Amino acid sequence: MEELKNTAPILHVSHLKKSFDDVAVLKDISFDLNAGEVLSIIGPSGSGKSTLLRCLTQLETFEAGEVCIDGKDMVIPGVKTKNGVKYAPAKTLREIRLSTGLVFQNFNLFPHLTVLQNLTLAPIRVLEKNREEARDLARELLKRMGLENKEKAYPCELSGGQQQRVSIARALAMNPKILFFDEPTSALDPELTGEVLKIIKGLTELQMTMVIVTHEMAFARDVADKVLFMDGGVIVEQGTPEYVFGKSENDRLNAFLSRFAND
Ligand SMILES: Nc1ncnc2c1ncn2[C@@H]1O[C@H](COP(=O)(O)OP(=O)(O)O)[C@@H](O)[C@H]1O
Ligand SMILES: [Mg+2]
Repeated sequence: MEELKNTAPILHVSHLKKSFDDVAVLKDISFDLNAGEVLSIIGPSGSGKSTLLRCLTQLETFEAGEVCIDGKDMVIPGVKTKNGVKYAPAKTLREIRLSTGLVFQNFNLFPHLTVLQNLTLAPIRVLEKNREEARDLARELLKRMGLENKEKAYPCELSGGQQQRVSIARALAMNPKILFFDEPTSALDPELTGEVLKIIKGLTELQMTMVIVTHEMAFARDVADKVLFMDGGVIVEQGTPEYVFGKSENDRLNAFLSRFAND
């Protein structure tokens, strides 16, 4: 049994479908990810990447398919309702939600709170940690992000790269099983992109399971165990970085990659 448990993927997505007002945005998405692995998702704008992350982190609902995160089903398998799937009970959804974290393109820090307060708010309110414990963890995370002298700063006093490092620390403070990133460097000036990518790369040493949507192709290739290429709401190709970035003969993928050839 133990062996079976260890080999089950931490994230299992099967035949997921999502529409907005009858427009199909995710058409039939299936993939698996094992604990400790990193998945890069690439693809043109409008292909459904953000919607996929939003469905997996429960910011959006989907109509069909199955999602299983860390052994828990987000929807009840095989049960359909008139609107689509039947979601699991609230308690299960909460547990699943707490096992995922999402880092947004635009940081989404609380502007009226200091860096330290941004990091301790949810652990205290949601995880019911005591103040000292939450503060100690926050300081440890800020140190890892190279921001130990910024705990009293407000987000507006920080560079974009620093704000994004705070939001990564904030997500880590909830101790997620899977960390999702939606274009974490797209809002940054080019000279600040590297510092954020370095932090994300550093998390692989902690065996953090991560799903990263990015337009940084060299990074997507370097950091990933697995790559998905999405276009028009479907996964057009998936495989190892070596395959997706070099060996695939898929025309849509290669046309997309050729746009980044001089980066
Ligand atoms: N809240 C929404 N309402 C209606 N359409 C949406 C909404 N969010 C996204 N879409 C549409 O879904 C498609 C996929 O969007 P998105 O997931 O943001 O793609 P990507 O992140 O790959 O750029 C786009 O056509 C977009 O316009
Ligand atoms: Mg997007």
